[in-house]
Amino acid sequence: MRKARIAVLVSGGGTNLQALIDAERNGVIRHGEIVLVLSSNPRAYALKRAEKAGIPSCTAERAAFGTQRQFEDAVRSKLSEYGVDLIVLAGFMSILSGEFTSEYPERIINVHPSLIPSFCGKGYYGLRVHEAALKKGVKVTGATVHFVNEIPDGGKIIMQKAVDVEEGDTPEILQRRVMEQAEWIILPKAAELVSEKITAEDTDNERI
Ligand code: GAR
Repeated sequence: MRKARIAVLVSGGGTNLQALIDAERNGVIRHGEIVLVLSSNPRAYALKRAEKAGIPSCTAERAAFGTQRQFEDAVRSKLSEYGVDLIVLAGFMSILSGEFTSEYPERIINVHPSLIPSFCGKGYYGLRVHEAALKKGVKVTGATVHFVNEIPDGGKIIMQKAVDVEEGDTPEILQRRVMEQAEWIILPKAAELVSEKITAEDTDNERI
């Protein structure tokens, strides 16, 4: 069976990347394989995780390129070099233009640490999301995996999981709980779902 070729785009610690690597090893991801890790930050610990897992990696730092177009051309060229079918944004903190995302319709997915449409869009990333959730006083938060389009955090939702906010939570404590109870579970599941769809489409095309 041909597997969907997955690129994971990262910028930081890479705990979601680790969840994907583990999911491929333990069979949660069966229809996809991670063939490339691309980091927008050359110092990201996620690169070490890729190395330990024996996955090829590369970096593309926005600041190293004069224009957004040049940055995205570098990303594009890596994706095509590795024959990537599915792009997973796992804590990827660089903006991708509408021009870029429209080239991969329903082929880019992102994990966001809240229940979209709450606490999402421009300015909501990482710890800031949990700070905003605590400030508002929500009692339930969670994580969302969605397709990526030209609207920040605006693409169709694939999967969500709710997580309770507890008395005395700090942004860091809440972030960790949302990762453990939601992100690390739904991101691999969603990656498998979309990979399966991609391989099924391949089979359909072969039949035609
Ligand atoms: C995760 O919480 C992810 O949901 C968030 O960044 C963190 C990355 O952690 N992404 C966003 O806020 C995107 N808007 P990781 O590097 O350990 O996976």
